[in-house]
Amino acid sequence: MIRPALVIIGSALGTKEKKDEVQKIASVLEMVHLASLVHDDILDGAKTRRGIPTLYSVAGPRQAVLAGDYLLSKAMSLVEGEEGDLHASAVANAFGRLCESELDQDAGEGDFLISSSTYIRRIAGKTAALFALSAYSGAAVTGAPKHLQYRLHRIGYLLGIAFQIQDDILDYTGDKKTLGKEIGQDVRIGIPTYPLIAALQEEKRRGGERLYTLVKDKRRPTKKESRQIVSLAIEYGGVERAVSLVNTYIARAMDDIGKLGNSLVESQLISLYEKLSARRN
Ligand code: FPP
Ligand code: MG
Repeated sequence: MIRPALVIIGSALGTKEKKDEVQKIASVLEMVHLASLVHDDILDGAKTRRGIPTLYSVAGPRQAVLAGDYLLSKAMSLVEGEEGDLHASAVANAFGRLCESELDQDAGEGDFLISSSTYIRRIAGKTAALFALSAYSGAAVTGAPKHLQYRLHRIGYLLGIAFQIQDDILDYTGDKKTLGKEIGQDVRIGIPTYPLIAALQEEKRRGGERLYTLVKDKRRPTKKESRQIVSLAIEYGGVERAVSLVNTYIARAMDDIGKLGNSLVESQLISLYEKLSARRN
């Protein structure tokens, strides 16, 4: 419920009392997120999420696609044309970014040799766009000053990027039981994330090519190859470099949070971030 939390926290910066409208947009964003996960689990062939079998694994891809679509239609039926400063087009644009990034990631499946900027662009669309919209929405609906709406949008974006990199780190270092989903799946299904990208850069710097040889021209590595890729990425310090990238985004978010001029909102955002950074699932 991170997205609704961002909506509700941001709404405290507004001047108008809009409790119902804030709750409505918070629900819309959580439902869209849920729909996107239902679809994501089909794309990724994921068997479990949050420790329980996915809809895809229980009901099959056809029912899961339709259930995700249904959830999305229910969410969209709650969106009005305009609610305070929040326009339905802002909501539609963020959903569009989600889909574009997933299309881009899917089209690049099996290509592990992508740049850091391609990776950041993908996660900006698939995760940060919805975080940014969430943080912005509460403030926009309640008519907060425009500069604060934009600042919250940027805070959401920065937290979203940090969150997704952290999620991608957990796929390398997490524990299946606490994580509630399979680990090492990204490599298995041909998705390059920052720990691997950074490790490949480090290997190149050192003049090696063990990891490069394993990932070049591969569409879906075998289980054994995936294990080798994950352990080499860790050996080359890919995880540490990913952690330090997370920290740069968090530092930028904290800088903006400190400029909101509202101690309650600041402390709530910091406490949300602390919960996120301690998460293991
Ligand atoms: C999880 O990523 C997936 C997303 C953040 C977005 C998925 C978006 C779509 C499938 C587009 C469809 C959109 C809608 C609105 C229906 P991940 O696979 O890296 O994370 P995970 O490890 O939790 O699965
Ligand atoms: Mg997934």
